[in-house]
Amino acid sequence: DHGNRARLLAANQAASEFFVERLSAPDAEVGRRFLGERGFDAEAARRFGVGFAPKSWDALTDHLKGRGFTTEELSASGLVSQGDRGVYDRFRGRLVWPIRDVTGQTVGFGARRLLDDDKGPKYLNTPETAIYHKSQVLYGLDLAKRDISKTHRVVVVEGYTDVMACHLAGVTTAIATCGTSFGVDHIKVLRRVLGDASGVGEVVFTFDGDAAGQQAAIRAFGEEQRFAAQTFVAVAPDGLDPCDLRLARGDGAVRTLIESRTPMFEFVIKHTLAQYDLETVEGRVAALRAAAPVVADIRDPALRPGYTRELARMLGVELGEVTRAVRSAA
Ligand code: CTP
Ligand code: MN
Ligand code: MN
Ligand code: MN
Ligand code: MN
Repeated sequence: DHGNRARLLAANQAASEFFVERLSAPDAEVGRRFLGERGFDAEAARRFGVGFAPKSWDALTDHLKGRGFTTEELSASGLVSQGDRGVYDRFRGRLVWPIRDVTGQTVGFGARRLLDDDKGPKYLNTPETAIYHKSQVLYGLDLAKRDISKTHRVVVVEGYTDVMACHLAGVTTAIATCGTSFGVDHIKVLRRVLGDASGVGEVVFTFDGDAAGQQAAIRAFGEEQRFAAQTFVAVAPDGLDPCDLRLARGDGAVRTLIESRTPMFEFVIKHTLAQYDLETVEGRVAALRAAAPVVADIRDPALRPGYTRELARMLGVELGEVTRAVRSAA
């Protein structure tokens, strides 16, 4: 109900202000150091509303109760967890990023562990609540939406620090999913922002240049087929992510990474072929068998013949043979 929703938004807003204030406290030195080591100064932290959750079981709980929030409201907000003897702060000793909806209201948080000896996952998020749906929420969309709808382009990265790095480097259309892979619900949200049911628009997936990031790009490919927009992939060199890249090589390298994007189909075909030894007949036959369904899946009939030729060229196999393989894979 609406009353409850308003209270959850208010609790998140109050928590966000609390975390930001606590980033200046002496015990947040570990958080400020993390930001500094990632190339983010105080101004960058302020711009993205980054804060610090103190290493305490009740600092936030007490603060919000003092502000009139009930235990039920705190539970419903996901800011606290339920223990045997009552509720306790969910985020402890972590750097916290406010996750905002498209209108800029804080609906949840992503929080990073700062000490190696801390238990728990590297990143911890708000659980599903009445206002936080991880399958739909896109970090940075409030900051990026104007430029996304103006340019009809969007850059999808993996992490909060990557979104920050992109925006600071001038790639102001960058957003990220929050601890989940890119899916159909995200596409629906993006389509609304792109304002483009017809599907004129460009999506660049910029996942980490490590194995996990490449797998994420391949997975996103499955969703892309339902997304009537031009889709590209940009993979950072040497296993870096956009945040690392900006740190190592500067803002220009991040912009160049986005500009050097590869069409999604080309990326997936190359990734598929890379798993076979194309020097042997057996290898080429197996590679054709694996890549033919990818080309057969291309919905745009104007693109399919081009990629069929491209596949024949890459494999060094006769065009007629590749055409037959693609047809029978359809
Ligand atoms: N993530 C997560 N839970 C984890 C690891 C990652 O939810 N245990 C999500 C977070 O949203 C994170 C993103 O996946 O921002 C990217 O993960 P990873 O590449 O591991 O994070 P980085 O931001 O690159 O990590 P680091 O802070 O070490 O740079
Ligand atoms: Mn809802
Ligand atoms: Mn990664
Ligand atoms: Mn990363
Ligand atoms: Mn990183």
